[in-house]
Amino acid sequence: MLIKKSLHSRISDVDLKNLSFGSELSDHMFYCAYRQGCWQRPKIKPLEPLTLSPAASVFHYGQAVFEGMKAYKDENGDVFLFRPQENIRRLNRSAERLNMPSFSEEIFLEGLSKLVDLDRHWVPQGYGQALYIRPFMIANEAKILASSSREFLLMIICTPVNTYYSQSLRIKIEQEYSRATQGGVGFTKAAGNYAAAFYPTRLANEQSYDQVLWTNSPTHDRIEESGTMNAFFRIGNQLITPVISDKILGGITRKSLIELASHDGIEVQERELTVAELVENLKKGMVKEAFGTGTAVVVCPYKIIGYQGKDFSLPQISDDKSFGLRLKSRLMEIQYNRSEDFFGWRKLVKSSFTVG
Ligand code: COI
Repeated sequence: MLIKKSLHSRISDVDLKNLSFGSELSDHMFYCAYRQGCWQRPKIKPLEPLTLSPAASVFHYGQAVFEGMKAYKDENGDVFLFRPQENIRRLNRSAERLNMPSFSEEIFLEGLSKLVDLDRHWVPQGYGQALYIRPFMIANEAKILASSSREFLLMIICTPVNTYYSQSLRIKIEQEYSRATQGGVGFTKAAGNYAAAFYPTRLANEQSYDQVLWTNSPTHDRIEESGTMNAFFRIGNQLITPVISDKILGGITRKSLIELASHDGIEVQERELTVAELVENLKKGMVKEAFGTGTAVVVCPYKIIGYQGKDFSLPQISDDKSFGLRLKSRLMEIQYNRSEDFFGWRKLVKSSFTVG
């Protein structure tokens, strides 16, 4: 791997205490090109703009996939990744569905560790703050022909962040638009999934909701995901989350919370949840809490669920009684090296560069 260090760090221009999500990028990037059927030698280099042909396939046909992960700093200044192998595996699953080449897990993990090591001073130290890492792959062959690109770029960029949402959300059960269809790309982190969500989300925002709660296409009678997150509902004392399918992204936070819940004696049912069952239980006051999960948000509680013009308020639940907040705290304690890592999820980023 070729490593070229930046001569000046831009970190002194950044106020790490006042961050808006994703607006400041760290000093370096990982970069690897694919052409003539092979990935070329990967590089870590100072962050720089890309030069792409206006005919690059990504601009016309949206052949692009991404990942989201974080690096965490503990009280001693050590830096950790969380289950990074899950991310490269999911990136490769997304890439396969979009007819893009897979990338070596080993080279990805090595490049990622070196990049985060080099930019370790960009990982903010506050509990809840992190370095958000964005691996992504785009198609860059210059051709307008509507067929798969034969050239690709895989890059990793990093941005210091606070939590994504700072308040609990108002969400609307979507009855018109769909995020995913059977046999489609809903299980991937395809860039187009997010683009297609922006318009229905804007309409929801205009009706005073923060996010939509996606339902299945075309009947809109089963819950799928919420915004860019997986969704959990506590009905009585059971935590229910829609079962993963080709329409639902297999969230790493979702999976980790389910494992933590079972360790903590909280029963989680991964199953189909119909809109009728949810609304019935909202009417009866049986929905004790609901929340979205994802790398960016960790756990984000909902306060309102809207359905066909009626808003159901969820009860105020104290932090120690909330399953969502209890699991969030368990997860963060592992991520920030404050508790024992029974599951072997935390990966120390070894220090091998002296940053000047
Ligand atoms: C993540 O949680 O990493 C996501 O994918 C959300 C992102 C689009 C900000």
